[in-house]
Amino acid sequence: MPKHVTILFIGDIVGEEGLGVVRSFLPSLIQKHKADFVIANGENTHEGHGINDAIIRELLNLGIHVVTGGDHSFDKWKVFPYMRSNNHILRPLNYPTGNAGFGYGIYSIPSVNVSIGVINIQGRTFMKAIDDPFRSVDWAIDQIQKETSLIFIDFHAEATAEKVSMGWHVDGRASVLIGTHTHIPTNDARILPKGLGYLTDAGMTGSYAGSLGMDVKVAIKRFTTGVHQKYKAATGDTHISAVLAKIYIESGKCMEIRPFIFPEFNKVSEKPSRF
Ligand SMILES: [Fe+2]
Ligand SMILES: [Fe+2]
Repeated sequence: MPKHVTILFIGDIVGEEGLGVVRSFLPSLIQKHKADFVIANGENTHEGHGINDAIIRELLNLGIHVVTGGDHSFDKWKVFPYMRSNNHILRPLNYPTGNAGFGYGIYSIPSVNVSIGVINIQGRTFMKAIDDPFRSVDWAIDQIQKETSLIFIDFHAEATAEKVSMGWHVDGRASVLIGTHTHIPTNDARILPKGLGYLTDAGMTGSYAGSLGMDVKVAIKRFTTGVHQKYKAATGDTHISAVLAKIYIESGKCMEIRPFIFPEFNKVSEKPSRF
């Protein structure tokens, strides 16, 4: 029996560009990193907003075990029956009762005889006034702990303070908490004192030639006019924004957490400067 499992998490996949880079590279990344369980946020897969049945099936066929969501989970109503019937697609748990879908699930990890609970919750600061994510996560952790101590949380939230606070709130009760939604990867991956692997935001999987995966001309026009403009997904310069987290099977505590961008960003000018 191995002493740990490796979780691969893919940050918000945006539109066809995001799906394309996942199609091209995910199978080899799973192999290279020996990932036992793969989770991806899919709230932006359908042209940047929402998700549909065909995309979920494709992601599950590519080796993703659980697709999480966020504030765009309910954008495409045709997906609701699928969300009601399959708990491998999650949406934030703390939307009021009556909405379609599941907010958490317990899954067996294929390579080892161990289960993992996955919780998807959403913040309230600068976002919709839904139910309290802190009390919701407490309830879900209590349910999952009856079966397993391995718990992964995708906290879909805007405010860094809410995300950091949630990290401290669940430290000692969950294995890994990774933030999503802002589409910008943060540089604060660490293990908190009681064993939670924490990262404020995983970043976005898709085109970095735009703004947060969307067309840059439209983004600039929104800011310069102050008027709503219809977004379309950006194209080119695509990257996967991901996180690898290793969890000790016996204790459920995080052993290692490492975010990465694939392919890596250019950080040095390729041509010598003229100045
Ligand atoms: Fe997103
Ligand atoms: Fe979002």
